[in-house]
Amino acid sequence: EKGGYPYFMLKEIAEQPKAVADTLLGRLQGGSLSLDEVRISDDDLRQVDKVIVIACGTSYHAGLIAKYAIEHWTRVPVEVEVASEFRYRDPIVDRDTLVVAISQSGESMDTLMAVRHARKQKARVVAITNSNGSTIARESDAVLYTHAGPEVGVAATKTFITQVVACYLLGLFLARTRGTMYDDEVRSVVRELSDMPEHIDTVLDTVEPVRELARSLAGARAVLFLGRHVGYPVALEGALKLKELAYMHAEAFAAGELKHGPIALIEDGLPVVVVVPSPRGRSVLHDKIVSNIQEVRARGARTIVIAEEGDEAVVPYADTVIRVPQTSTLLAPLVSTIPLQVFACELALAKGLDVDQPRNLAKSVTVE
Ligand code: F6R
Repeated sequence: EKGGYPYFMLKEIAEQPKAVADTLLGRLQGGSLSLDEVRISDDDLRQVDKVIVIACGTSYHAGLIAKYAIEHWTRVPVEVEVASEFRYRDPIVDRDTLVVAISQSGESMDTLMAVRHARKQKARVVAITNSNGSTIARESDAVLYTHAGPEVGVAATKTFITQVVACYLLGLFLARTRGTMYDDEVRSVVRELSDMPEHIDTVLDTVEPVRELARSLAGARAVLFLGRHVGYPVALEGALKLKELAYMHAEAFAAGELKHGPIALIEDGLPVVVVVPSPRGRSVLHDKIVSNIQEVRARGARTIVIAEEGDEAVVPYADTVIRVPQTSTLLAPLVSTIPLQVFACELALAKGLDVDQPRNLAKSVTVE
């Protein structure tokens, strides 16, 4: 049932192109968008004045990516909060708040409690989940299922990628309903989304050097991850994967925060993974991160750079360059996350660890 792979996690990483295609299936029709599971009336969706995304762990990282896309496309403010914090801080929620609860299992107690809290205050709740008929799905006003198929490995991989896809779909749907995007703008994102399974395939086909790199770093004490814009949540996700699978100290920072403290951590040989945004998008983001790479390298870091195909500006400052296909800035997490999953998985395997069953972790956290 592991389909010839020694671990479920390896199989699930490899299944991501299909998981993305399945999540898009039937929802991108004729180059436009159909999301009939959102059973909230168009009028109510036009009334929404704030979106709050609640989730835990990896699902929270999907929510952070959603913020960039939804705000950009809809101009509605989006807050993203870990469910356990949301619930206990007296959040400002009312009937014009759209709460998006992201949970692979649909059973995380923290997220469920946050959903109940939001509904009590009359907010409308859309669940993004991979589990049909799960508690969070049943208790929400609408459900957007990710069609990743069952995920056995404790670490979320294909469910994360499909959550990000579902968030994009929801953002486009809101933008269309509220009239903040032209039809051909929506169509062009939709077109790019439908190319993503192929792009992820390309990453998986070229990922061997990442495995070698991971094996060579099995003895490292710590790894830092840096990103900007949507690359920042990708960095957070890369660090979380490394913690949970390889039991290694891993931390992610917004690259702009470096000089405000974390740069003091840089010492000779410290591996620093940098997620670089497309130079063809907002070039200022790209230029800033190239200087961040220079800064850490000048202090002795071993720089591992995830950059778009054709981005030559990073080459002089990178000890290792990992290439991903060209995408628009907002959709880049669908490709840039993949090498980080492989990196964490391979590093853990090199340490002789069981990547499907990391210590102390459960697939579904049904206690608070
Ligand atoms: C990380 C991981 C966890 C879950 C978190 C939320 O690989 O699997 O961080 O993402 O426990 O779980 P769900 O999405 O089921 O609510």
